[in-house]
Amino acid sequence: MAAKGGSTFRCGECGAEQPKWAGRCDACGAWNTLVEEPTGRSPGRAVRRSNVVAGPPPVRLADVQGGEVGRWRTGSPEFDFVLGGGIVPGSVVLVGGEPGIGKSTLLLQCAASLEAAGVPTLYVSGEESPEQLRLRADRLGDLAGQVRVLGETRLEAMVHHASSVGARVLFVDSIQTSYTDALEGAPGNVGQVRECAAQLMRFAKEAGPAVFLVGHVTKGGGIAGPRTLEHIVDTVLYFEGEATLDHRILRAVKNRFGSVDEIGVFRMTGAGLEPVPDPAAAFLASRVTGASGSAVTALMEGTRPMLVEIQALATKAGFGTPQRVATGLDHRRLAVLLAVLERRAGLPVGTLDVFVNVTGGVRLLEPSTDLAVVAALLSSVHDRPVPPDALFLGEVGLAGEVRPVAAVERRLAEAGRQGFRRAFISTRSRPAATGVEIVPLEGIGDLARRLVA
Ligand code: TYD
Ligand code: MG
Repeated sequence: MAAKGGSTFRCGECGAEQPKWAGRCDACGAWNTLVEEPTGRSPGRAVRRSNVVAGPPPVRLADVQGGEVGRWRTGSPEFDFVLGGGIVPGSVVLVGGEPGIGKSTLLLQCAASLEAAGVPTLYVSGEESPEQLRLRADRLGDLAGQVRVLGETRLEAMVHHASSVGARVLFVDSIQTSYTDALEGAPGNVGQVRECAAQLMRFAKEAGPAVFLVGHVTKGGGIAGPRTLEHIVDTVLYFEGEATLDHRILRAVKNRFGSVDEIGVFRMTGAGLEPVPDPAAAFLASRVTGASGSAVTALMEGTRPMLVEIQALATKAGFGTPQRVATGLDHRRLAVLLAVLERRAGLPVGTLDVFVNVTGGVRLLEPSTDLAVVAALLSSVHDRPVPPDALFLGEVGLAGEVRPVAAVERRLAEAGRQGFRRAFISTRSRPAATGVEIVPLEGIGDLARRLVA
């Protein structure tokens, strides 16, 4: 597969290598993603040669030292939690997120805590000068002043300085501004990014420090260019904003050393990021507590669950046809749910103006959110709030039956993590225990009785 000199082309989406340029990647079908990758010295060949000379002999697993490795604490229980219990020595962690979300702040705070705990670190920035980093550190308090920083984009220099100061944790901010002499091509090009990551990976595995890589995310949602890094590194974390809250959520989308269902919630303050230990309280605080016509559901955003609030308002209609206004969901779906409510739960909605709104500008595309819409409507019509810690998950059929939804455990886990204590779901759904109490429903008649009783 290695190129015979000259150049080859690599897909920025899937990383497939092509001998010549084309508008469309043969491997994944993406358009306009092939980028020329000059192969001055083939990195692939260099790797192979060094392995032949210095590779360690095979060993039996039973003879391998270790078992439970000691982990370093990041100073933030939320961050430790997402990592699976702290930083694993020799691991490589990619931290992705949009520019300005707080990646540099998170990692600089982490470096400060590690230094304070006696773990030597090196924070390399190719994006900010030491003077700019100092300004940032001043906001973060006394500890950050102890962090050793280096303004550098050359990978060889980073590795050299990391070794010479004996850094146990190396932060590289960002992988897109780093470049290696082993390859031609500008920083940020897919080949450069991959090769830098591969070299840092080797450094981590051979010399034992943990390495954090910052990766900027493109509009498309992938980590810009080097989506392929996700395969190379041990752990991939995304730092993202929460649409309905002024909060930042850190979540693992891949973790060789922990679970991927955990999230950590932070708030950006004037003095850096602050963990939010009880995100549910914050989530609920942004809702009007005790108001009727509000229900929360969990929808899937790709493979990730996301909580959203649905609000409904039903008022006595004036003259003429009652109004039906749906924001964030299909008005035909709303019409179906209203008809089902009228016929199957005996709710007299025919003479009411009905407004339904999904907060945070989210659009409901899945039928799994039906039950929450119905709950919000029932709550509004009867003017009774639903329990504040209740989650509603289910598709509603024309017979009024509540149907199971996909990925119910992941949704429940996320809700539980954000403090929801009970979930109304279909009797036919049998999720494994998640710590959230299940309230099984046969149909929406059951729901009406439970909410209004
Ligand atoms: P930053 O960590 O630079 O984001 P990234 O590295 O992901 O691009 O965060 C930048 C934002 O955070 C910026 O808008 C300023 C804000 N901020 C605070 O509100 N408080 C602080 O203490 C710090 C350091 C930054
Ligand atoms: Mg930054």
